[in-house]
Amino acid sequence: MSKTLPGKSPQVSATTMTEIVLPSDANALGTIFGGKIMAWIDIAGAIAAGRHARRVVVTASIDALHFVAPVKVGHNVHIKAMVNFAGKTSMEVGVRVDSENPITGDLSHTATAYLTFVGLDDHGRPSPVPPVLPETPEEKRRFEDAKKRRESRMRLAEELRASKV
Ligand SMILES: CC(C)(COP(=O)(O)OP(=O)(O)OC[C@H]1O[C@@H](n2cnc3c(N)ncnc32)[C@H](O)[C@@H]1OP(=O)(O)O)[C@@H](O)C(=O)NCCC(=O)NCCS
Repeated sequence: MSKTLPGKSPQVSATTMTEIVLPSDANALGTIFGGKIMAWIDIAGAIAAGRHARRVVVTASIDALHFVAPVKVGHNVHIKAMVNFAGKTSMEVGVRVDSENPITGDLSHTATAYLTFVGLDDHGRPSPVPPVLPETPEEKRRFEDAKKRRESRMRLAEELRASKV
């Protein structure tokens, strides 16, 4: 019989990375490539999920990702990731990206993404992860929102499966 793992606060896995946009990260307009931000989002998300699960994790999916503002070469980029919700073996991680003008200190929202990571055992099979124990009102809202997104993902996957039969 499997034992339930002790729950963890989202604070335990909260992760912040800060990067600087280098000329090699930029397009012809002098702003960052979307793929570079996607890579940082995936890395920050994987660190947060790994801290929550304390095991190897893989990215199962990334929900729609919208870039709401460009980021210029020389600006700083802050990538914040936190585990919002955990199922049996999967975790939803929310990632928020903000850019910082290094001269003025002004911050701009750049992108938000939700990713699902799965914890794996030593044989590479999905393995149980601790539940998330939200504490603050904000964490509780994120937990409830993540639960709805998970239900909606599962419903869509089921509908697509059924439409192929
Ligand atoms: C992710 C992966 C381990 C899932 O394996 P699987 O055999 O489909 O596992 P299961 O069907 O038992 O699902 C395991 C969990 O993953 C979730 N899951 C599976 N595919 C998913 C997807 N596309 N999106 C979101 N969640 C997903 C399931 O809902 C389940 O969650 P739960 O245990 O919390 O209820 C497998 O598809 C895989 O290895 N994919 C490649 C991962 C990878 O290489 N990523 C990029 C490099 S890191």
